[in-house]
Amino acid sequence: MKELTPLVWKNRRLYIIDQRLLPHKTKWVKLRDHNDVYRAIRDMLIRGAPAIGIVAAFGFCLGFRSVKTEDREVLKERITEIADLLGSARPTAVNLRWAVNRMLGLTAKLLPDKKKSIKEIEHILEKEALNILREDIETNRKIGRYGSRLIPKGASILTHCNAGALAVGGYGTAIGVIRRAFEEKKDITVFVDETRPYLQGARLTSYELKSLGIRHFVITDNTAGFLMKLRKIDLVITGADRIVRNGDTANKIGTYSLAVLAKENRIPFYIAAPLSTFDISLETGYEIPVEERSGDEVLNIMGRSIAPKGVTALHFGFDVTPAGYISAIITERGIVYPPYRKNIKKLFMKR
Ligand code: MRU
Repeated sequence: MKELTPLVWKNRRLYIIDQRLLPHKTKWVKLRDHNDVYRAIRDMLIRGAPAIGIVAAFGFCLGFRSVKTEDREVLKERITEIADLLGSARPTAVNLRWAVNRMLGLTAKLLPDKKKSIKEIEHILEKEALNILREDIETNRKIGRYGSRLIPKGASILTHCNAGALAVGGYGTAIGVIRRAFEEKKDITVFVDETRPYLQGARLTSYELKSLGIRHFVITDNTAGFLMKLRKIDLVITGADRIVRNGDTANKIGTYSLAVLAKENRIPFYIAAPLSTFDISLETGYEIPVEERSGDEVLNIMGRSIAPKGVTALHFGFDVTPAGYISAIITERGIVYPPYRKNIKKLFMKR
């Protein structure tokens, strides 16, 4: 079976799947320049923390190519503006700024070297974006291997949103763990929160699990607590959009409620995320910018209005789960347990 990926870089062009149309339609969209990439991230044609970082790295390459000047100072100024634009497309997932900064840092190193032509620099930048993509897939496989150790045979697992192949370069983080447990024949069952309002669970996670042949049930978001009470869930695992120094974690809205319910019911609650999702410049979750999106996305489902005309809705895209609710964080460098402040610091010292 061909590995699912949400983006392809081919003949120096970027193509993404318009995830708003999944699962019923797989439409590949060509992104011509950095403005197209910015809009695709902002409008959620592509989403998921690592995926928007990877796509922004390629957007950076397209932006670099579009600046028609041999003046390196002007080029630096222009590409910094482009990087800022790309980095501002969505505020919560730190992977976006992480990837853009990595590209910008490399550019700042390369530009003063006059022995390298602008064309050569362009090629090196493309290679770097491809490295980010390749590393992400390798990282997810490692997360899968570590994480599967936490999954008992026959486990019933609850997940929220989509942290699968579509949200990354390939394989998935939280879904990567589930996949690995499945590949190890652990006879698992997955409960998938539908994840209102974008329905990442019902539309995307179930699409991935179905194509992998993993047994699962889609549930409404408000069913999770009852299932826990009935002892039908053995563990919860989700991805993350930003993890700060003390372990507080931003993820899709509804994650916090799940974590509280899990603790109340003595069920382990795990986060699976790569190091690029950590923001050790922030001390606590209070500092994480939480995206607020249009209320229209709550009031309309798949283009159909579900509330009286003129009603207003509140729509936070994410919430922050305090570290105290998180049993462990699974990364490509291993599983991190509390106390998080100390152990996250150690994680960044490991090489
Ligand atoms: O709004 P989205 O769909 O970009 O939110 C995605 C999530 O919250 C995911 O759980 C997170 O980005 C981790 S993806 C590996």
